[in-house]
Amino acid sequence: MNRLQVLTLLGASLLAACSGEPARPDKPEAPVVQVADITRLTGDAEAGRIGFGQCRSCHAVEAGVNRVGPSLHTIVGRPVGTVADYRYSTAMAAAGGAWDEQRLYDFLENPRGYLPGTKMTFVGIKDGQRRADIIAYLKTQAD
Ligand code: HEC
Repeated sequence: MNRLQVLTLLGASLLAACSGEPARPDKPEAPVVQVADITRLTGDAEAGRIGFGQCRSCHAVEAGVNRVGPSLHTIVGRPVGTVADYRYSTAMAAAGGAWDEQRLYDFLENPRGYLPGTKMTFVGIKDGQRRADIIAYLKTQAD
C-alpha cells in the first residue's frame, strides 16, 4: 500500500466514525436522509420491522407489555404518556397531546433533545428514512 492509499483509508474510516450511525443494514450504501417533514418520505414497514430491533430491548409492540419503556401497541395517534400501569418521567407525563407521525419523527431523531427530562436513554436516529420506516412499522401495530 502506498502513502496515498493509506491516507484515503484513514479518511474513509474517520468519516465513518464521525457520522456516529451504523449504515442501514438493508441498504448500507444509502445516504442519510435529512428532511424536516415526514410527509415527504414513504416509510417501508418491513424495513421498519427490522429497524425496530433498536427499540426492542426496551419496548414491546404487544398490548399491555411494558419493559424498560411502555408498550408501543397503537402508539401512532395515542395520547403521550398514557399507558396506565407504566411510570413515566414527569416530563413525559406532563407533555400532553398525541403521538402523530410528525411528532414521533421529531422525537426519535433526538429524544432527550426533543423532550428534556425524558428517561428514554436512547441516542436517536439521524436518518429520516429509517425513522419513517420504523413509524410505518408501528402503524401496523394497531388494533
Ligand atoms: C434504553 C431503552 C429504550 C430504547 C432503546 C428505546 N426507548 Fe422508547 N422509551 C423508553 C423509556 C424509558 C420511555 C419512557 C420515557 C419517559 O417516561 O420519559 C420510552 C418512551 C417512548 C415513547 C413514548 C411512549 C408513550 O406512551 O407516550 C415512544 C413513542 C418511544 N419510547 C419510542 C421508541 C422507539 C420507536 C424506539 C426505537 C427507535 C425506542 N423508543 C427506543 C426506553 C427506550
